[in-house]
Amino acid sequence: MSGKTVSPESRRPVATLTTLPAWKALVEHHRQAGSLHLRQIFDDDPQRGERLVAEADGLYLDYSKNRVTDDTMRLLLQLAKDCGLAERIEAMFSGKKINASEQRAVLHVALNAPENEHIIVDGVDVVPEVHAVLDHMSRFSDEVRSGRWRGHTGKAIRNVVNIGIGGSDLGPVMAYEALRHYSRRDMNFRFLSNIDGTDFEEVTRDLDPEETLFIIVSKTFTTLETLTNAHTARDWSLKKLKDETAVQKHFVAVSTNGEGVAKFGIDTANMFGFWDWVGGRYSMDSAVGLSTMIAIGPDNFRAMLAGFHAMDEHFHSTPFAGNLPVLMGLLSIWNNNFLGANTAAVLPYEHYLKRFPAYLQQLAMESNGKHVTLDGSPVDVSTGPVYWGEPGTNGQHSFYQLIHQGTQIVPCDFIGFCQPLNDVGRHHDLLLANLFAQAEALAFGKTEQQIRAEGSEDWLVPHLVCEGNRPTNTLLAQKLTPFTLGQLVALYEHSVFTQGVIWNIDSFDQWGVELGKVLAQRIVPELENKEEPELGHDSSTNALIRRYRQLRTKPAQNQAGQAR
Ligand code: F6P
Repeated sequence: MSGKTVSPESRRPVATLTTLPAWKALVEHHRQAGSLHLRQIFDDDPQRGERLVAEADGLYLDYSKNRVTDDTMRLLLQLAKDCGLAERIEAMFSGKKINASEQRAVLHVALNAPENEHIIVDGVDVVPEVHAVLDHMSRFSDEVRSGRWRGHTGKAIRNVVNIGIGGSDLGPVMAYEALRHYSRRDMNFRFLSNIDGTDFEEVTRDLDPEETLFIIVSKTFTTLETLTNAHTARDWSLKKLKDETAVQKHFVAVSTNGEGVAKFGIDTANMFGFWDWVGGRYSMDSAVGLSTMIAIGPDNFRAMLAGFHAMDEHFHSTPFAGNLPVLMGLLSIWNNNFLGANTAAVLPYEHYLKRFPAYLQQLAMESNGKHVTLDGSPVDVSTGPVYWGEPGTNGQHSFYQLIHQGTQIVPCDFIGFCQPLNDVGRHHDLLLANLFAQAEALAFGKTEQQIRAEGSEDWLVPHLVCEGNRPTNTLLAQKLTPFTLGQLVALYEHSVFTQGVIWNIDSFDQWGVELGKVLAQRIVPELENKEEPELGHDSSTNALIRRYRQLRTKPAQNQAGQAR
């Protein structure tokens, strides 16, 4: 007995991951088959590209270009079984408190549930509450979009500024950019997140307070960045509107903290609620998406929820061998823990998805960047790869070199759509040709033999060789619509969850971000005090603070040493 206090939701039928028979079998399998080349694997199985695929409501996943055999997939699926994935999925969907360290249910899937479903949390059916908030959002969005909602001086709203950070920003900004094609083009949508005053200045500099609505989005309504920006926005508005009551026409809130919202001066009738069982990074389909709904309209927003729901259902009920999030999660485990890939690139060949990699960074890294298991023991394998990416083809002319010829493996997810939203000349065929070509080049590379056959000089040959055998997934859908965006986001949510279950970690807490926040609070008065404070940090932090204080008010010098 360790004497450790273990939360009730942290039990799992196994001791540690690496002692599981399926894990040990995978280790052995990797020893034997881990160095197989995709060239060989495809040669041995000409139908592989049509076999190693799965589809959910028109979203097609080709995972054939991963370094896996049928045995690998069988063992990974066995691992999912041994880790109790089916039971954990059931526990999530039925409202069990699977966020063990915060003792909370994890029910973002309830945000997408149709009205006739019932999901019970602490004895209460949450589906009617979800729909009441959605109806409230719809009424408000219609008012703003139609111009019936007027600012303090009687003007219609033309600018909507979402103030939030992390999950209260990245989801809304990603969704707005992704669905911009469907949005009101006669309105401006802006997103203010950083505490850096530059963000505030650049977001507001050409806006008229009389026509500007701020949506303050904060689950806790205590986040330093958001509250600081919200107060600055309030001052900015009142400087022109000159009447405290104007706040009620120009500020609404999305939060779980009614008291904080009221204290700020926002009419709580214009507060859109959500619940502690929705994590910030899983909240873009809650009221956190109010700016999205104003931009694309309630019907499109509900179509996006239908896409989320379709993927939720697929994840909940499809056998694992054909289950997209499960397959992607397990392949990520294989790439990370067996092939040693510490990062994963997400490469959308759709410019509207340009913020999708940034969104996934929080989703994946805040969820799975964990060093202990649910019961507090250290993990025995690496968790949480670094997610990154850029839209194609821009990335091709920047970092793809490393993916093709660098010394580390970077598994890639390519995302493409068969129909463009803007059909301009040959652009779309050229774009998709590049996507298919990149996945092909990464898998099969170019051998020394092929290069010599083309007549290259000897000295140049090694520089031209592309080894290939770089794992990729390709996700293909017909067109980027609100529905497909919902499917895509839910796919990654559940893939992240699948990985967290295998690692037996809490994918729904984020204690690691707290320490820096607390230390910053201690340092703020040390920077702002007029008197020289006694500094009790380490010698590096002390020296940096002293230097900052010296240079903060001193006139800046140009290179010739003259004051500017
Ligand atoms: O600091 C991390 C975090 O807690 C995220 O998980 C969250 O999305 C973000 O801060 C914003 O929190 P809030 O919505 O409470 O302002």
